[in-house]
Amino acid sequence: MVLIRRKPDIPTSEITPLSVYKNRRKFLKTTAALAIGGTASILAIESEDAQAAQKFENIMDSPFSSTDEELTSFKDVTSYNNFYEFGTDKRSPSKLAHRLTTRPWSLSVSGECEAPRDWDIEDILKQFPLEERIYRHRCVEAWSMVVPWVGFPLSEFLKSHKPTSKAKYVEMLTLVRPEEMDGQRPGLFGSVLDWPYREGLRMDEAMNPLAIFAVGLYGQHMPNQNGAPIRLVVPWKYGFKGIKSIVSVTFTEQQPLNTWQDQAPNEYGFYANVNPNVDHPRWSQATERRVGTLFGRQPTLMFNGYSEQVASLYSGMDLSVNF
Ligand code: MTE
Repeated sequence: MVLIRRKPDIPTSEITPLSVYKNRRKFLKTTAALAIGGTASILAIESEDAQAAQKFENIMDSPFSSTDEELTSFKDVTSYNNFYEFGTDKRSPSKLAHRLTTRPWSLSVSGECEAPRDWDIEDILKQFPLEERIYRHRCVEAWSMVVPWVGFPLSEFLKSHKPTSKAKYVEMLTLVRPEEMDGQRPGLFGSVLDWPYREGLRMDEAMNPLAIFAVGLYGQHMPNQNGAPIRLVVPWKYGFKGIKSIVSVTFTEQQPLNTWQDQAPNEYGFYANVNPNVDHPRWSQATERRVGTLFGRQPTLMFNGYSEQVASLYSGMDLSVNF
């Protein structure tokens, strides 16, 4: 069922893309659809929203905006989330994550590098030019989205710390702050996960130009539920590699243990590459449901459709063993 909604029913969040999104074709399509509800209303909402949203200026187009598939709506991207620090339910993060204080925010970089540093997020935003990357986002639970992220290449960030030859991996940790993150407080049956949430990449994966640190989406600052103020996006891997609200980055010689591998090693590996040929022990990975679409499932693509850019990273590896 498709409803044409009038102004009072349209959340301002759904309108935001109109003023920021650069794809002409979709811009016109969306405008046409909404215009049925009244052009004057749209303009009014847009100006209200311009005040509310924290938008980035000077976002560059990127050669890596690799899909022109229909974007998942801002509303779906920001209200159907996995962020266990705010509960295990997909709707909880959008309800609870506003309690997270994201300024000031420090991110420390240490380990096997010549130039360790404690960053303030504002300095990161000043130092690294921002790009828009439209990526497919495929969760291990077999749903997917198409998200216009705002970020910068992870490789640029890592290189600025001069990793040594001993830096074979990079490990990242999420904030621990149970007073603001409801899901981090133990419940009746103890903690849901062993905090902090941890993730890791092999150095050559981290240096691949597709991997980014994202600081926003849809042209605006990262909503808290999506991992404000800074999160990882590795588009050829399952969503759980995309660690949110990062407070530390460590160059390591040993392969780090990631949260989900630690939790259930028979189900989740270190690599977590999107792979329709290797099923999860409890469900198939051959197809996916695109969040926000009404019908059907679509085939999942090897490396989430980014084979050309990343398959060589895994040549000679048995991906059913290294899942
Ligand atoms: N990062 C932290 N710190 N905590 C989490 O629970 N969930 C992961 C990943 N990053 C998670 C996290 C999972 S399972 C997925 S699918 C993606 O975030 C979801 O990102 P999204 O909510 O922006 O779609």
